[in-house]
Amino acid sequence: MGVMRLGHINLRVLDMDAALKHYENVMGMAQTDKDEDGNVYLKCWDEWDKYSVILSQSDTAGMNNIAYKVERDSDLDDLKKRVEDYGISVTDMAAGEMRSCGRGIKFNLPSGHEMRLYAEKEALGKDVGTTNPEPWPDDVKGIKAHWLDHALLMCELDPEKGVNKVAENTAFMRDALDFYLGEQVLVGPDGDIQAATWMFRTSTPHDIAFVGGPKMGLHHCAFFLDEWNDVLKAADIMAKNDVKVDVTPQRHGITRGYTIYFFDPSGNRNETFAGLGYLAQPDMPPVTWTEDQLWRGIFYHTGEEAGAFTTVYT
Ligand SMILES: [Fe+2]
Repeated sequence: MGVMRLGHINLRVLDMDAALKHYENVMGMAQTDKDEDGNVYLKCWDEWDKYSVILSQSDTAGMNNIAYKVERDSDLDDLKKRVEDYGISVTDMAAGEMRSCGRGIKFNLPSGHEMRLYAEKEALGKDVGTTNPEPWPDDVKGIKAHWLDHALLMCELDPEKGVNKVAENTAFMRDALDFYLGEQVLVGPDGDIQAATWMFRTSTPHDIAFVGGPKMGLHHCAFFLDEWNDVLKAADIMAKNDVKVDVTPQRHGITRGYTIYFFDPSGNRNETFAGLGYLAQPDMPPVTWTEDQLWRGIFYHTGEEAGAFTTVYT
């Protein structure tokens, strides 16, 4: 099968205590491990693998790397060859190098972001178990995020210099890792510059997204909630906890998700993504948004730029 889903993201945080308060008390994650270097590992209640977020103390915010889980150990060999054949060098990772994981590989996307692949991670199980489970657990804090859903990476885009890392990443993910294109934004006088793409391997509208900007970075990582009422309540909980909200509850045109954009205490943007969006399938014709409808695609109700979407990211 190859890549199965988003496995974990390693975020840099400026103040570990403040970050833990956010990811535990507001997001509802649970700390499952801490290593000798002080990195903290957390999971959501509906996830079974040991962690989906790694927090690393640092002087700068942002993302160190993003890791996807493949279905079989042999996929790592197949994908290593395909990434190398594409012209990107790959480094092997021994079992345990990614904590509680089997062997893996790492490489940099054309945009420069570090991506990792692994097949095995220690599993702790969902909080509700697997035998006659309740639909949700009682003792989860905050917004009770179900799982880490996707990440949006900012990629260098400068058409005048002929630089478009969005298009390069998109082609690489399609050709080397078999990701499918769900939606794209095309801009420019001829409408042929791929300025943003949303790509999937699961049946959700996106497992990763790329948006063009002046420099590479992390735009946001998103956590799944069931539905619109959960999004409203999540915004209440953020207000109660003085979380800095970037964009209040809204619908995306692109992916159709119900969203809130907000920041962790270090300034890393988080999102809630709720709703099915739609059923993404390999043969689904990709959706295109034109430059004049770009903001309708991002914030459907107003169709206007909101918050610090294009200007602030880590
Ligand atoms: Fe998102």
